[in-house]
Amino acid sequence: MTLLFTDAAQVVTCAGPARARRGAEMADLGLRVGAAVAVDGERIVAVGPQRELEQTYRDATRVDCRGAILTPGLVDSHTHAVFGRARYEEQEQRAAGADYLAIAAAGGGIHASVRDLRARSEDELFALAERRLRRLAAFGTTTVEVKSGYGLSLDDELKMLRVAARLAESLAMRLIPTWLGAHEIPLDFRGRPDGRRAYIALLIDEMLPCIASERLARFADVFCEPGVFTVDESREVLTASRGAGLGIKLHADELAPAGGAELAAALGAISADHLAAVSAAGIAALAQSSTVATLLPGTMLFLGKPSQAPARALIEAGVPVALATDFNPGTSPTVNFPLILTLGVSQLRMSVAEAVVAATVNGAAALGIADRVGQLAPGYSADLALFSGEDVREVPYWYGERLCRATWVRGKACHQFDLPVG
Ligand code: NIG
Ligand code: FE
Repeated sequence: MTLLFTDAAQVVTCAGPARARRGAEMADLGLRVGAAVAVDGERIVAVGPQRELEQTYRDATRVDCRGAILTPGLVDSHTHAVFGRARYEEQEQRAAGADYLAIAAAGGGIHASVRDLRARSEDELFALAERRLRRLAAFGTTTVEVKSGYGLSLDDELKMLRVAARLAESLAMRLIPTWLGAHEIPLDFRGRPDGRRAYIALLIDEMLPCIASERLARFADVFCEPGVFTVDESREVLTASRGAGLGIKLHADELAPAGGAELAAALGAISADHLAAVSAAGIAALAQSSTVATLLPGTMLFLGKPSQAPARALIEAGVPVALATDFNPGTSPTVNFPLILTLGVSQLRMSVAEAVVAATVNGAAALGIADRVGQLAPGYSADLALFSGEDVREVPYWYGERLCRATWVRGKACHQFDLPVG
């Protein structure tokens, strides 16, 4: 079936090279007025002046985009969307002075989510995650990366990744699974003198071969942070993961500058994520690499931290920057990706164009799919989002509101709200 998207106030194409954008490239939105987008089956076949496309695609079904802005579907390249119960009690504990890592050291934080998840069935987790992913899609997200990391045992990590695989089958969204077995050292191992080494052996010798042979994850990730995994331990897990055929990512320099960015750059990781505390040396290392810096400003906001990742310094050093929600029950329980764009502009001092490129093309690059996702251009997957408004700058401006009217993934309706029929 051919679809013709017409009469949008603006079409944000992000058209350009099929790779992460750096420096001044991030300022180019490929904005078009008076343009239409033609979709045939799963792919975009043309973006051009509406009059011309109306001639060429006379029989197409029209999608009326009046009063709205058409963009590439948002690419959320960092989430922990499979989890059990919410952790609202920790928000108040932090307000009263408790620190994120101190809560974890007392058996809360990630450990609390692990206890909860281990007690739940695959079906229960599937039902919870499905609802949450639909809410993510309702805000304009069409591609979502989903990490494991609340299982921390062979069976429970496999359970999480099987839930992700079933979600990828059943939802219209594009879902990319990441294995984060190295999210924490589980409490049962922390209590043993040889626990750290034993858990790393479990990760590398037992979990990784299973996950690689069942193809349950495209990437491996590690939470590299003082008190969690050291740089050396992270290197060991990621090197083994790469050897098993997985792409590699890293939670790096989230709370303290510990050399995570330098490690991600040295290993050629596809992304280094968080970076709120990255050092000058870390920025320089990333600038010399092909690694995307994925910034998660919702996390710093929610944790009540006074500082944010140095987005301007990263962009000016030539590091490609992506934005993502980090949707998770501990540090960023939001499904609202446009709100992350608001933080990108108002707190990270990015331009709107930089924030939108960070949430589309560069998000896709952080997932290794920039050759088919993240742009409205011929040959690209027909993943689109429609936001109410006249100007793309309204998307971060009306903060907290849901402007998204509809999304399509591979040419099929994903989420549709008040879309005029025509
Ligand atoms: O990205 N930093 C580590 N992992 C998550 C938080 C997970 C949790 O607290 O449940 C993050 O912020
Ligand atoms: Fe995370």
